[in-house]
Amino acid sequence: MTRVTRRNVILAAGASVGLAACGSAEEIDRNTASTAVPERSVQLARVADVPVGGGVLIAARELAITQPVEGEFHAFGALCTHQNCPVSQFERDEIRCPCHGSTFDSRTGEVISGPASLPLHPVAIRVDGDRIYSDV
Ligand code: FES
Repeated sequence: MTRVTRRNVILAAGASVGLAACGSAEEIDRNTASTAVPERSVQLARVADVPVGGGVLIAARELAITQPVEGEFHAFGALCTHQNCPVSQFERDEIRCPCHGSTFDSRTGEVISGPASLPLHPVAIRVDGDRIYSDV
């Protein structure tokens, strides 16, 4: 019989959110793996999910992940700083908001053109092999 602990409930809740995010997300409990790695990581995407020169929206986590050049990944909060629409268009090293057309630099999140005036919020990610993680 499995004992239900607060930790199990948190991990289970996180796993369901992660699965909703991109269909391939998984929770990894690193408690027993090593003391050098974070306690828990959430898989956000596979490297292959992020096109070179483009990006992908992880809607359930409100994250945008970009890959301006092969092997260089960046992540940002996906809510546009103008009126909070999720940015969802990625091309030519730009992230575009579909609501009013603001564009952001896919490396820095800085505004290229408005109406947004503030950059997208950068988010720390970790690439390990063919997968991209958020450490929590
Ligand atoms: S909400 Fe993004 S440009 Fe207006």
